[in-house]
Amino acid sequence: MTIETVGVIGAGQMGNGIAHVFALAGYEVLLNDISAESLEKAVSTIDKNLERQVGRGKVSAEDKAAAMARIKTTLTLTDLGQTDLVIEAATERETVKQQIFDALLPHLKPTTILTSNTSSISITRLASRTDRPEKFMGFHFMNPVPVMQLVELIRGIATDQPTYEALLAVVNRLGKTAASAEDFPAFIVNRILVPMINEAVYTLYEGVGNVRSIDESMKLGANHPMGPLELADFIGLDTCLAIMNVLHDGLADTKYRPCPLLTKYVEAGWLGRKSGRGFYDYR
Ligand code: CAA
Repeated sequence: MTIETVGVIGAGQMGNGIAHVFALAGYEVLLNDISAESLEKAVSTIDKNLERQVGRGKVSAEDKAAAMARIKTTLTLTDLGQTDLVIEAATERETVKQQIFDALLPHLKPTTILTSNTSSISITRLASRTDRPEKFMGFHFMNPVPVMQLVELIRGIATDQPTYEALLAVVNRLGKTAASAEDFPAFIVNRILVPMINEAVYTLYEGVGNVRSIDESMKLGANHPMGPLELADFIGLDTCLAIMNVLHDGLADTKYRPCPLLTKYVEAGWLGRKSGRGFYDYR
């Protein structure tokens, strides 16, 4: 399975980061979104982030230009039909992901590996509703994608070995490190990370600390690069809540109960950095 062309669905913070690292590694990238504005914003974000890497001497100006030239955008999902690998990085909602796969599959060449960057949804279930469960995998990048070293590889129950090996080779070509996770709710990183964030929200909710003292404590007391509430704002509070709900529903344990304060913030539209307000105010 030779992979040279990659289709990325969703031009949000994960999708643009994924397009960035694939283009830099020499893959031809076709980035799709339903919004022209999101596509324009994604291309300018990639340009800015590549420029930052040029400024720090991590990428040459020539490599940046070559990477930018390898990224094409399209508003038409079916344009991705001839790519060798598709990475779905749309909203973390199962119905949205399914609608995307349903629309794409009739146009997708039979050999294409289909993946989802889902941070928590069952890969086996997503795969079972496609025409290629053996060529379907979870391909989970961490945010910010150009900086974070890890990629989780999650096999569904039917995923075959050649598909796994093809993605492992892709991760190596990206210069990243793969971690294999079994297909259980939220896999490895988010199974551990997001309950920690939820606990930080409970710590705030119960008045044990305030936003700054909680974040400061975990930065200085546990050497985390970001405090848990700052990190929640960075990930997106809606995504954190969606992951807690998947854990709560999938593992049926009250220890995964989403904090009511997290739910309230999401209901208010306070989603973190992307909406201008979360635990911090970015306006
Ligand atoms: N693109 C390219 N480079 C970037 C970048 C981006 N988007 N963001 C930061 N960088 C680079 C900077 O240029 C800088 O490079 P050098 O090391 O060469 O100087 C480096 O990353 C550090 O950046 P900054 O100096 O600007 O800021 P910082 O030191 O505060 O680090 C951070 C920023 C890397 C985001 C750091 O705060 C961090 O690691 N935070 C935790 C991130 C984390 O936990 N991510 C996982 C989230 S969970 C997830 O993603 C899974 C999920 O499904 C929800």
